[in-house]
Amino acid sequence: MKKSKRLEGMKSAIFAEIDKIKEEVAARGITIIDLGIGSPDMPPMPHIFHALQEAAENLNNYGYPTSKGTRELRETISWWYGERFGVQLDPETEVLVLMGSQDGLGHLPLCLLDPGDIALVPDPGYPVYSAGVTLAGGQVYHMPLKKENQFLPDFDAIPEDIARNANMMILNYPNNPVAAVADSAFFERAVEFALRYDIVVCHDIAYSELAFDGYRPPSILESKDAIKVGVEFHSVSKTYNMAGCRLGFVVGNSEIIEALARVKSNIDYGVFLPIQMAGIAALRGPQDITQRNAAAYKARRDILIDGLAKTGWVMDKPQATMFVWAPLPKGYTSSQKFTEDVLRETGVAMVPGIAFGSQGEGYVRIALVQDEGVIQETVRRIGDKFRF
Ligand SMILES: Cc1ncc(COP(=O)(O)O)c(C=O)c1O
Repeated sequence: MKKSKRLEGMKSAIFAEIDKIKEEVAARGITIIDLGIGSPDMPPMPHIFHALQEAAENLNNYGYPTSKGTRELRETISWWYGERFGVQLDPETEVLVLMGSQDGLGHLPLCLLDPGDIALVPDPGYPVYSAGVTLAGGQVYHMPLKKENQFLPDFDAIPEDIARNANMMILNYPNNPVAAVADSAFFERAVEFALRYDIVVCHDIAYSELAFDGYRPPSILESKDAIKVGVEFHSVSKTYNMAGCRLGFVVGNSEIIEALARVKSNIDYGVFLPIQMAGIAALRGPQDITQRNAAAYKARRDILIDGLAKTGWVMDKPQATMFVWAPLPKGYTSSQKFTEDVLRETGVAMVPGIAFGSQGEGYVRIALVQDEGVIQETVRRIGDKFRF
C-alpha cells in the first residue's frame, strides 16, 4: 500500500518505546504511576455533567449540530471572555466552536498556508502545532524557547527573510510543556512583530485558568490591535475537567475565524449538542471550581518538587499549568535514557523533553495528574532508587 510522505514522522517512536517499557514494568508486577499524558484526573462538577445528562435524554439533540456551534454557546463564550479578560467579541463573527482546541490548531494551517509557506512554531511545543503545519504542506521554522529568555521566543533572533516570508506564528502561554508564563508586555511585542511582518498570531491559552500564587494569565486579545492579526484558542478540557467531551473554541479576528469555519464546514458537523450545553453550564456556572482545581495542582506541585529536592533533583516551581518542566539531574544528558531508567526502576512514567522538539532535550515533563497520595508515592519510589 502506498502511503503519503506526510504520514512519515506523524507518530512519535519515543511514545511507542515508552509504552513498551510500561508493559514490561507492569508485567513485573509494578504498578505504573503515569505522569505522562496531561489528561485531568479530577471529574467535572455535578452541574456540568447533569447538564450533559439532561441534554442527552432529549431525543431532539441527536441531529447534526451546525459546524460553527450553537448561537447560545457562542454568546456564552463571548460573555465569558468579557467577564474574564474584559475583551468584547461578536458571537456571530468572532467566535467559533471547536471539537477541542486541538481541532482548530490542527486545521488552521490549512486556511493560512500554501505548500512551502512558513509557520513560526515554538520548540519545544505541543505536538499538534508542527503536525498541523506539516499536514498543510507548510514549512516549520522553530522558535527556540530557552530558559535564559524565560522560555519566551526571541523575535529579534528570527532572521529577517524568515519573518518576511512567514504567514503564521503559534504562541502558547501558560505553556505546555515548559510551564512558563507570559505577561502583557510580551503579547504586545508579539502583536507588534506580527503587524510589522503581516503574520497571523495564533495564541493557545488552554491553561489560562490553571495558575497559582495569585497569578492570572492575560489574553493576547487584551493587547492593542491584537484583533487585527490574532486569534486565541481555548478549551474546556483542563479548566473544567472535560477533556473527553471534546469542546474548545477559537476567538478573535473575524477573517481568520471565517476561514477556519469554512474549512471545518467541509470536514465536520460540529460538536454533539449535549456537549455544547454542558459547555454552557461550565462557562456560566460557578467559577470558583477553577480555583479549587488550580489549588489541587499547586498542592501536588509542592509535594513533588519539595520531595524530589531531597533526592538532589532540583527544579523550578511553575506559576501555571498542570506540568513541571524538570531539568535532567546531574549525570544525565539524554531525556529519553533518563525517562526510561526511572520508568524501569520505579514504574513512574514521564515524558522526555525531546518528544516536544530538539530544544526540549535536557528536560523531562512531569504531569501532575495523580492525587497527592500518588505524588507522595512517586517521590518515595524515586528517592528509594536514586540519589542525584
Ligand atoms: C497547550 C495545549 N493546547 C491544546 C491542547 C488540546 O486541548 P483540547 O482538549 O481542547 O483539544 C492541549 C492538551 O493537552 C494542550 O496542552
